Amino acid sequence: MNLRKASMGSGRWWGMVVIGAVVAVVATGASQKKHDPLVSRIAFGSCSDQSHPQPVWNALINFDPQVFIWLGDNIYGDIKRPFKVFGKERTFGPWKNAPRFVPSSSQEMEFKYKKAKTNPGYSRLREKTKVIGTWDDHDYGLNDAGKEFSGKITNQRLLLDFLDEPQDSPRRKQDGVYASYTFGPVGRQVKVILLDTRYHRDPLLSDGTILGNSQWTWLEKELNGPASAITIIGSSIQVISNLSAATGPLFSFESWGRFPKERDRLFKLIADSKRDGVLFISGDVHFGEITRYDCATGYPLYDVTSSGLTKAVEETVPPALHLIIRFVARLTPSTMRVMDQNCRYSSCTYGQPNFGAIEIDWDATPMTLKIEVRDVNGLTVTGVKMSLLELQVGSLDPVATAKAGEHRRHCSLEVDLPWLIRYRLAILFYSAVAISLLALIGFTYAAISIVRRCLRKHKYD
Ligand SMILES: *[C@@H]1O[C@H](CO)[C@@H](O)[C@H](O)[C@H]1NC(C)=O
Repeated sequence: MNLRKASMGSGRWWGMVVIGAVVAVVATGASQKKHDPLVSRIAFGSCSDQSHPQPVWNALINFDPQVFIWLGDNIYGDIKRPFKVFGKERTFGPWKNAPRFVPSSSQEMEFKYKKAKTNPGYSRLREKTKVIGTWDDHDYGLNDAGKEFSGKITNQRLLLDFLDEPQDSPRRKQDGVYASYTFGPVGRQVKVILLDTRYHRDPLLSDGTILGNSQWTWLEKELNGPASAITIIGSSIQVISNLSAATGPLFSFESWGRFPKERDRLFKLIADSKRDGVLFISGDVHFGEITRYDCATGYPLYDVTSSGLTKAVEETVPPALHLIIRFVARLTPSTMRVMDQNCRYSSCTYGQPNFGAIEIDWDATPMTLKIEVRDVNGLTVTGVKMSLLELQVGSLDPVATAKAGEHRRHCSLEVDLPWLIRYRLAILFYSAVAISLLALIGFTYAAISIVRRCLRKHKYD
């Protein structure tokens, strides 16, 4: 550098120093990324009652994941009031008598989080595993609640405390708990996008928004950002399955399907981003299953649902009724569920405590991905193994899509099922009720006539 140049004003010189420093920082950042430890085992779960025994952590610790993802109902923060059959709690007919919930005070919430966090099994998992997560309704603060819930600001802080989010994290300053993470070295990266399906959500049945504007803008940026081998989108509620369409009008579930416009927007965003390797994980429904949708992005979109780290549907009824629950599960029509002979039960759902397991074999050629739901012993109850090539745009032949009107598995919506199939649960239920009523009337009539005849006979005697 000659004198003339060196004397070119200190401003320019400082500018160069700053640029140099920035380049150095970016370079170290990149080299750090290059050496980020490989992530090949990810586990997730949802619906964990802090006051229940939690044997599932042992199986999780044995699975030895590098990352564990909470998908909501991480605690049961709200309070369930006993439901009354003939009181005000009743909405419409005894079977629609939904239990009512009330929010807890923030002290109670803190106490419940403390109980969850100090569970010995969970504490042991945390020693070796990076824990991240989002929330669903019961840790958000109220059953089925959305944007209208007033406790959301306080409860956001409590969830982030539970997850050990640093005090200066931007996640503590935004509206909602959505976040994204990238794990692993360049070329073998796993991106995890966690959605907030509560903070901005419009009322059920409004067909309004689930994510809200700010989160949509953020998500679009995340999906269009640098590629990753795998992108896991965590949603507390199911994305692919629209169970309500097949269980209504008996009972209903929350899901993206209940917000059809919002669901289409999500699929279109993923398709437009041309991003390979996207899959969903979800919770909420108190059972586990794997569903798959082939008609959105040019490759199968999987949704691995694990629900019930403790609160699973079979746990809520006496053992004698487990068979009935499995029968109902078998009977519930689903166009999206992955059916496989290797499932534990023929319904390919699992209503006992479970967790989700994702394993990536980076050394296989081509690389492979295993998605599973596992039981409290760590054994697989339903799973799919695939090559990562299958999750690339164009892996599905678009010509193979169904001819107009023809029903196609993993593509046709539940609402398009023939009504006799779609409503078979309800038909069976109401038929059973009707037959029982008729039988009761018949018996009463028979009993009365027998008594009458006896009386008459008595008179003549
Ligand atoms: C899901 O089911 C509900 C209830 O039957 C229905 O209103 C909604 O349109 C369905 N959504 C999709 C995407 O099929």
